[in-house]
Amino acid sequence: MAPPEHSRLCFRGWLAVTIGVLSLRPSDGRDLSGSRPNILLLMADDLGIGDVGCYGNNTIRTPNIDRLARDGVRLTQHIAAAALCTPSRAAFVTGRYPVRSGMVSSDGSRVLQWTGVAGGLPTDEITFAEILQGRGYTTGLIGKWHLGLNCESSTDHCHHPLHHGFDHFYGMPLSLMGDCAHWDMSEKRANLERRLHVLAQVLALAVLTVSAGKLTRLLSVSWAPAIGLTVGCVLSLAAASCVGTMIVHADCFLMRNHTITEQPMVFARTTALILKEVSSFVKRNQQGPFLLFVSFLHVHIPLVTTENFLGKSLHGLYGDNVQEMDWMVGQILDTLDTEGLTNSTLVYFTSDHGGSLEARQGNHQYGGWNGIYKGGKGMGGWEGGIRVPGIFRWPGVLPAGREVHEPTSLMDVFPTVVRLGGGEVPQDRVIDGLDLLPLLRGTAPHAQHDVLLHYCESFLHAARWFQQDRGALWKVHFQTPAFHPEGAGACYGRAVCPCSGDTVTRHDPPLLFDLSRDPSEAHALTPDTEPSFYHVMARVAQAVEGHRRTLRPVSLQLDTLSNSWRPWLQPCCAPFPLCWCSRDGDGP
Ligand SMILES: *[C@@H]1O[C@H](CO)[C@@H](O)[C@H](O)[C@H]1NC(C)=O
Ligand SMILES: *[C@@H]1O[C@H](CO)[C@@H](O)[C@H](O)[C@H]1NC(C)=O
Ligand SMILES: *[C@@H]1O[C@H](CO)[C@@H](O)[C@H](O)[C@H]1NC(C)=O
Repeated sequence: MAPPEHSRLCFRGWLAVTIGVLSLRPSDGRDLSGSRPNILLLMADDLGIGDVGCYGNNTIRTPNIDRLARDGVRLTQHIAAAALCTPSRAAFVTGRYPVRSGMVSSDGSRVLQWTGVAGGLPTDEITFAEILQGRGYTTGLIGKWHLGLNCESSTDHCHHPLHHGFDHFYGMPLSLMGDCAHWDMSEKRANLERRLHVLAQVLALAVLTVSAGKLTRLLSVSWAPAIGLTVGCVLSLAAASCVGTMIVHADCFLMRNHTITEQPMVFARTTALILKEVSSFVKRNQQGPFLLFVSFLHVHIPLVTTENFLGKSLHGLYGDNVQEMDWMVGQILDTLDTEGLTNSTLVYFTSDHGGSLEARQGNHQYGGWNGIYKGGKGMGGWEGGIRVPGIFRWPGVLPAGREVHEPTSLMDVFPTVVRLGGGEVPQDRVIDGLDLLPLLRGTAPHAQHDVLLHYCESFLHAARWFQQDRGALWKVHFQTPAFHPEGAGACYGRAVCPCSGDTVTRHDPPLLFDLSRDPSEAHALTPDTEPSFYHVMARVAQAVEGHRRTLRPVSLQLDTLSNSWRPWLQPCCAPFPLCWCSRDGDGP
C-alpha cells in the first residue's frame, strides 16, 4: 500500500462507516450519530487469552468477563500492536503502530524502565482522550500508565496523562513490577546496581589514591591501602544495593493528578483504592458523557492479591489474581448498573498483550496462559504474545452473544471511540486503526484490515494477511526468537525473548502458516506444500513496502539514552532519597 493509498483506505473506511450509520438502517433502527455513549475501557496487564472462561478456560472462574461476552460481542482474533506494555499501550491510545510515535527501542530496552527516565509518549501524539475531551467528554485514567512522566525535571510531567487528554488521573505512572515486592532481582535492577557499584568503586579508588600515604602512616602498616580497598569495595557494593533498593521502592507509588499520594504504595489497600476511585469517578460524572480508561495493575507480577482471593483458584497465586481482577470487573459493572448507566455505556475489555511464559519459579507458573497459541509476552510475532481477549458491550446497540472471527486490532479502539464520541480522526497523520462499529453491529460482514504487522521493538518480525476471497489467514514470520533452552518454547532465564542480533532466527524464505487451519502455528508451509506460497509472500512484501513508505524518522523514546535512570527526574514526595509518605488518608 502506498501512503496516499493507505490514507485513502483509512478515509474510505471512515466514509463507509459514516454512510453505513447514516443510511443503512441498523437492525434495531437506532441511528447512532449523536448518541454519544459513555466509554469504559478495561485493560488487564499481561493477561493471557487462555486465562478467561469465555475464551475456553473451564477451570478458572471469570464470571464477570464472561457476562460481558454473553451480553456483547466477543472478538476471537483481537491483536495487540506489540507484545509488551509500553509499545502496545502507546499504540492503543494513539491508534498507530508504536514505530510511528517512537515508543519502541532498537537496542534492547523494551519498555520504559523507570519513572525517572526522559522517554515517553511525545506531546505531539494525539490520544483518543484528547479528542473526546475536546468534544465535551470528561476523561479519566485509573491504574497503570507506563507511557512516561518527565522530560527535564522531576516535576515537569511532560508525559503525564493530564498532558495527554485526561482530566483525571489516579494510579501508577510506571507499572506494578516484581521489584515492588522483592519478587526477584530483575534484570533492570541488576544493571542499575552494577552501574552504581562501578561508580562507587571509582569514587572509593579515587579517595584511596589521594589518601594512601596518610592511611599508611596512620595505621603504620604497609598493607593499609589494601585494607582500604577492601573496605571501599564492600562499602560501594552496599551503597549500590542500598541506592538500588531506594530507587526501586521510590518507583512503586500512586499519584492523583499531579500529586504523589502514597510512596511507596501499600499493596494491601491498592485494589480497594482503585475501585473506590472508579466508583467516585462514575458517580461524579453520572450526567456524562465520560470516557474512563481503567488500566488494571492485575495480573502482572508480583500478583498483589487480597486475603479474600488467596488460595481460592485452582491455579495458584496467578489464578487467584486473575479471579480477583474479574471480581473488580464485576464491581465496576455493578457501579454502572447502580447509576443507571449500563445502556448508555460502551464497555470494552482487553489485555495489553499475552501472558508471560518466562514468569515462573521452579515448577510454579506465575505468568498467563495463552491457550492453544504459540509463544507469549515479549515475542514479536508468535500468536500467544499478541492475540488477546477483546469484548465490547453496549446493550441495545451491539448484538448480545455475537462472535467476530475476523482480524481486529487494539488500535481500532481509537477511531471507534473517537467517532462514537462525535470526534474526528486526525487527518494530518497515519492512523492504523479502523472503525470497528460496523463489524461489531453486523452491518459490515468483513474486517477492513487485510494486513497487520507484528513488530518486536523497531524490527518487523511477522505479518498476517487475511485473504478474504479464500477465507485464508496467512501468517508470515521473517524472524522468530531463538528459544532458550532450544525447543523450550520460551526464553527461560531472561525476562523476555530479545528481538534482534543472534538471539533471533532469520527465515529466508520466511516461515508461512495458515492460521485458519493451523492456529497453533505448528506446521510451516513450504513452496512444495503450499501452491500459494510465493503469491502470499509477494502480497505481504508489497504491504510491508507500502507501510515502510509511510514511516517518518522519529527519535526512539525507549532507546538507552532516553531510557536510563536520571536522578534529577526521580519523582519523590520528600527530598530524594527519602521518598516516603502517605497523603491519601481517606482516598478520593
Ligand atoms: C486456565 O488458566 C490457568 C491459569 O493461567 C492455566 O494454568 C490453565 O491451564 C488454564 N486451563 C485451560 C483449560 O485452559
Ligand atoms: C484533577 O484535575 C482536574 C483538572 O485538571 C480536576 O478537574 C479534577 O477534579 C482533579 N481531580 C482530583 C481528584 O483532584
Ligand atoms: C437496556 O437495554 C436492554 C437491551 O436492549 C433492554 O432489554 C433493557 O430494558 C434496557 N434497560 C433500560 C433500563 O432501559
